[in-house]
Amino acid sequence: MSGTNQSGMLRGFWYIAGLSRALAKGATKPVTLLGDELLIGRRPDGQVFAYSDRCPHRGMPMRHGSFDGTNLQCCYHGWQFSAENGVCIHIPALADADPTQPGRFRLRSYPCRDVQGNVWVYIPAGRTLPNTLPDVPQVPGFDGIAPQIATTMRFPSNADIAAYGFCDPAHPAFVHTSRWWKSKAGLKLRPKKKAFEPAHHGFRMKSHQLSGGARPYRLMGTDVQVDVTIGLPGLRIEHIRGSRHSACVLAAVTPVTETTTDVHYCVYWTMPWLAPLRPFAAWMARDFLSQDLDMAAKLAHGAATPPMLFVGDPDIQIAWLMRLKREYLASQVEDRPFVNPLTEQVLEWKS
Ligand code: FES
Ligand SMILES: [Fe+2]
Repeated sequence: MSGTNQSGMLRGFWYIAGLSRALAKGATKPVTLLGDELLIGRRPDGQVFAYSDRCPHRGMPMRHGSFDGTNLQCCYHGWQFSAENGVCIHIPALADADPTQPGRFRLRSYPCRDVQGNVWVYIPAGRTLPNTLPDVPQVPGFDGIAPQIATTMRFPSNADIAAYGFCDPAHPAFVHTSRWWKSKAGLKLRPKKKAFEPAHHGFRMKSHQLSGGARPYRLMGTDVQVDVTIGLPGLRIEHIRGSRHSACVLAAVTPVTETTTDVHYCVYWTMPWLAPLRPFAAWMARDFLSQDLDMAAKLAHGAATPPMLFVGDPDIQIAWLMRLKREYLASQVEDRPFVNPLTEQVLEWKS
């Protein structure tokens, strides 16, 4: 069984394919995830689906066909497929007496869920699905709630480079220098000391009190506690709880191809009075993410695989992420369960 295709895009995980609100009832949308061309859509009952974008007959992309709310129809010879399960239900050119059962043919189906405002698709490692699918990643405390802010940027880099920004404490002081975030932070680096523990396919920065710094966090009240979980396949969930409010920031990478990656950034919060600030907050988020995109583009420009040095505690989180990835790939090749190779550790750096 292979857990990757081509350059190490990790199969066997859920990935965000798009925003829920961008997929209306009766609509379909072509997407590319890990090089697989898919057609996602939403039935009139609200259920989302994801099928291979290739018609099993002669390979016509289904995106050129139509969806009447019940069936998907290929534009080439008119084969019809149930949007419930992808099974072919009608082949118009077959004579009435022809014994061929259309149900022998089907669109390849991918598990698809609408969770917390995002449409997630499971990309299996092999041709068949595992007996039990993993849970769709969720931010804590926002069941059934869509993000207040959601933005996606397409990075011209592989998924690893796109995910580095999730766990690289040495870069914000030099890259995220927006006056809205941290003013001239590169000039006054503060010592940090954080405790980490292994967590599922990744690691967690244990809950700790926020010490000054970033202004948006002050909206949560006093005694603001933060914990951050980072893991495969390029997922970061920051959970911020204050005396008055809480918020979560979900950042997730979706490899599109070997050299293109969508980075999804969603912010959830419990502060209704913040609603008028949404456009500004969305602009801030895009500004922030575009700074990472700029770095990824500059990095990817020189070499497909830039040289890597991991120097001291500031670089350990990225090294962990790469180690987790190696272990995941080894577990797939050896057909055995993934074993998290990390242990508890305290890291110190200046940022
Ligand atoms: S290619 Fe789709 S019906 Fe022929
Ligand atoms: Fe960043």
